[in-house]
Amino acid sequence: MTTQHWDPDTYARNARFVSDLGAGVFALLAPQPGERVLDLGCGDGALTEKLVASGCRVTAVDSSAKQIGAARARGLDARRARAETLPFQEEFDAVFSNAVLHWIPDARAVIACVHRALKPGGRFVAELGGAGCVETVRLALIAAAGRRGLDGAALDPWFFPTGEAYRALLEAQGFVVRTIELFPRPTLLPGDITDWLETFAQPFLGAVAPGDRAGFIQEVRAAVAPALLDPIHGWTADYIRLRFDAHKAH
Ligand code: BEZ
Repeated sequence: MTTQHWDPDTYARNARFVSDLGAGVFALLAPQPGERVLDLGCGDGALTEKLVASGCRVTAVDSSAKQIGAARARGLDARRARAETLPFQEEFDAVFSNAVLHWIPDARAVIACVHRALKPGGRFVAELGGAGCVETVRLALIAAAGRRGLDGAALDPWFFPTGEAYRALLEAQGFVVRTIELFPRPTLLPGDITDWLETFAQPFLGAVAPGDRAGFIQEVRAAVAPALLDPIHGWTADYIRLRFDAHKAH
């Protein structure tokens, strides 16, 4: 199975909106000067930089070596680590994560690692894709894969939980959930949906024969256009977000 790869240049061109739209979860974190914060899945460090600017002492981790290189180029303390096997023990006042957790199916392992990484009383504040996120695109990708004899559901890399399901996962690891909210966030894309597909749908594209990829993308584009393309405003993806604030007991 092809996994998702992140290229800092492609990300900056097609996905800058991901960190730009992180302002809401950043406000929920309300970072305080002097706090030790772990940025889980920092990408190229755009939001990590804002945490540092707030006066926090920040460690950033990401599974992508290229994104870690881009984050370090900003002068950040960024290290390569997987969310399911974080090496930290009671070190952080807060763990922050934006638009990462939906890429990791083993949520139980991630939440257990985050709980271990937090000091008693520490908080886990994050946002991810929630139940129904990019459903129009996801179903079109699965259908186009199916027409090629591929099991599209098995290629689907995304974990988009309901609020109830994620609350249960958090509570099972000992968190007390203060807020958890599922809400639609239709997202105006900076370019064509084909750029979004090339950036975010690699697990599907990698399963399609190289000579058929352009056709596959055009087929998905045509399928989603009636719902997502506006002749004046362009492409809007049907994002749904899950945002929460959970605390570790003292
Ligand atoms: C997101 O960043 O929320 C996202 C990315 C890819 C697919 C769906 C959602």
